[in-house]
Amino acid sequence: MPERWAPDSWRNKPIMQVPDYPDRQLLADTEKQLATFPPLVFAGEARNLKKSLARVAAGEAFLLQGGDCAESFAEHGANNIRDFFRVFLQMAIVLTYAGASPVVKVGRIAGQFAKPRSAPTEKKDGIELPSYRGDIINDIAFTPESRTPDPRRQMDAYRQSAATLNLLRAFAKGGYASVENVHRWMMQSVTDSPQSKAYADLADRVSGALDFMRACGLTFAVDSALGTTDFYTSHEALLLGYEQSLTRIDSTTGDWYATSGHMIWIGDRTRQHDHAHIEYARGIKNPLGLKCGPSLKTDDLLRLIDILNPDNEPGRLTLIGRFGAEKVGEHLPALVRAVQREGRSVIWSCDPMHGNTITSASGYKTRPFDLILKEVRAFFDVHAAEGSHAGGVHLEMTGQNVTECTGGARAISDSDLNDRYHTVCDPRLNAEQAIDLAFLLADRLRKERSAHPLPAAAGL
Ligand code: PEP
Ligand code: CO
Repeated sequence: MPERWAPDSWRNKPIMQVPDYPDRQLLADTEKQLATFPPLVFAGEARNLKKSLARVAAGEAFLLQGGDCAESFAEHGANNIRDFFRVFLQMAIVLTYAGASPVVKVGRIAGQFAKPRSAPTEKKDGIELPSYRGDIINDIAFTPESRTPDPRRQMDAYRQSAATLNLLRAFAKGGYASVENVHRWMMQSVTDSPQSKAYADLADRVSGALDFMRACGLTFAVDSALGTTDFYTSHEALLLGYEQSLTRIDSTTGDWYATSGHMIWIGDRTRQHDHAHIEYARGIKNPLGLKCGPSLKTDDLLRLIDILNPDNEPGRLTLIGRFGAEKVGEHLPALVRAVQREGRSVIWSCDPMHGNTITSASGYKTRPFDLILKEVRAFFDVHAAEGSHAGGVHLEMTGQNVTECTGGARAISDSDLNDRYHTVCDPRLNAEQAIDLAFLLADRLRKERSAHPLPAAAGL
């Protein structure tokens, strides 16, 4: 019999990565006030996402999840959100066409603020201060005041999430995300890319498909399925006091939901089966992600699946592998086989970012585009060999023209990193690199689809 769960039952468990708030009273008051605020998302939306993810689990759709490593207060603006959304939808249209199946779109956005760190403190010039843990907790500036965890930042994160979500909902449902617009942006990106020749063929075929649909009389009006899109939000559920405050009962089902985002995931550093983060996640009904790094043993994974998805509900659990290009071939097959042997329904997604982080000669934390690609390819190879569905990708990316990851079509070099290195946490793919990756992924999706054809399916 599992122990009784409550939104606060995680407080009785060991916990990792917890900030040390000096003002406990202010923390308690803040959490209490947040608990009176409106939910950011609704249970019905989380259920719809779970239904779409169930199709991914069944091999009938693909999951595209991505966004900033960490959202920041300083970079909160309409242009950043718009540019991210545009790039994300361009990737989705390419993948939808290539896979001839729906792409489930989930941003790391509108709540992705709290960061796990490898060390609790950071040293610079002989001074030691608490590590930066994301804007919801402290500030990146290297001063004692900035690095002190401040509960009031949770209010700012909540309000920023609400404003971001409001704009995303308007973009998704107000006509901006119509297939015609997305197609136009994609054609522009292809024209501007140094790789335009390589992508022209696929881009032309997407254009041809749209011409055909138009000729058949399908309209792209705002009220049609082609004029709107479904876009969901997600973040790492790391700061559990904040999550608890936004955990609410759904009045239609009586179930508990996290209302801070549609999907939440548990990070690779906080996935101990008997610790607080897993305890929190098991009791809410949202779709869940679980980061799976090289230290994850098969038995641990099966135990975590038992805890997080005891009813074997399709769409409930996405396993997000982040092994590194050199390790994925060694670790992933055993996990896939064990899950298949036990008949568990999961979505296999590939995070090719977190296992491929290196420090460049110039001292920047970076990720070579080639390694990212190599991990994605190896992920597809493993699933092709095991007869399982390569279900999705999980990316750190931005709509801006930053220089944080090396390589890609413009061959960003070590010495270019200094030009526009803006991330407050991990290096992200820039707009061009993200679209590049989508075209390269498209090849693999097309192959998978020709090996396992589906009845024609619509839905961008
Ligand atoms: C992240 O996704 O930003 C992250 C910290 O990942 P992981 O838990 O896989 O290290
Ligand atoms: Co990251």
